[in-house]
Amino acid sequence: MPAFTATAPGKIILLGEHAVVYGRPAIAVPVTQVQARAIVTPKPGGREFRVIAPAVGVDSPWDSLPPENPLRAALEGVCRSLGVTRLPAGRLQITSTIPVAAGLGSGAAVSVALIRAVSAFLGEGLSDEQVNALAYEVEKIHHGTPSGIDNTVVTYARPVYFVKGKPVETFRVGAPFTLVIGDTGIPAPTREAVGDVRRGWQAEPQRYERAFAALGSLTRAVRQLIERGQPERIGPLLDEAHHWLCEIGVSHPKLDALVQAARQAGALGAKLSGGGRGGNMIALVERDAAEAVVLAIRKAGAERAFVNEVMG
Ligand code: PMV
Repeated sequence: MPAFTATAPGKIILLGEHAVVYGRPAIAVPVTQVQARAIVTPKPGGREFRVIAPAVGVDSPWDSLPPENPLRAALEGVCRSLGVTRLPAGRLQITSTIPVAAGLGSGAAVSVALIRAVSAFLGEGLSDEQVNALAYEVEKIHHGTPSGIDNTVVTYARPVYFVKGKPVETFRVGAPFTLVIGDTGIPAPTREAVGDVRRGWQAEPQRYERAFAALGSLTRAVRQLIERGQPERIGPLLDEAHHWLCEIGVSHPKLDALVQAARQAGALGAKLSGGGRGGNMIALVERDAAEAVVLAIRKAGAERAFVNEVMG
């Protein structure tokens, strides 16, 4: 019996974090260097559909998983949309190289890979729109009120442009570009950072609004440059975004050190990415300079650093 395999990439925020909470746009891009993988092996004559996901300690029949388990929710979603009442016997194995809780979209990637592999196993592929809608439902379990950015960028494996309350848009990449992603190794408490920014905004609305407006303009400009195939011109805009993110208090000395090291090693621009206070930074690089930048940020203390190609 053949197995049914599907993979999905991670994601990272290129620009617009925090300002997006206040109605400005954000851009996220796929991270193809890391991925989640789902493999379904049919077990003809078997009695159960078993789920094995070692990273989260799951190894059990799917209907023994708690109802709020995201893997179970994803399986139920697939069955519902295909009108399947009982999963045939099989074994679903989930693996992932995407670091968990690091702003890299690991939950969404697992959902998308699972939904694609299981729907193929059931004999009916789903459209990207259907996959995206199902993965969004699972995201609600992970995040409560998700923006939809993670499931969309991961499903389409393309950059997305997002404004709160509007449908997430994918857009054209006129020319590929290269990012180096560096992890501070410091856990990134996104919720806390978002809460602190809100308190700052309440205390000093003008100062914070100025930063959000600047970040919004930068994000719109970056989208245009990407679409026009001029990614090399984005560098200074990323630098400027880092300045504004520092201004609203979401950087960290280690993020600043990695950003500085990347620039000194020849990056075209660099900034923190995601919630901040730890977590990841990104640097835009010429492909030839990527390895030097990886080495420089490792030397400056990055726990992990890798190169990511963003394609059209
Ligand atoms: O670190 P991530 O990729 O989960 O991004 C957090 C982005 C914020 O704008 C800081 C919060 C949010 O909900 O948009």
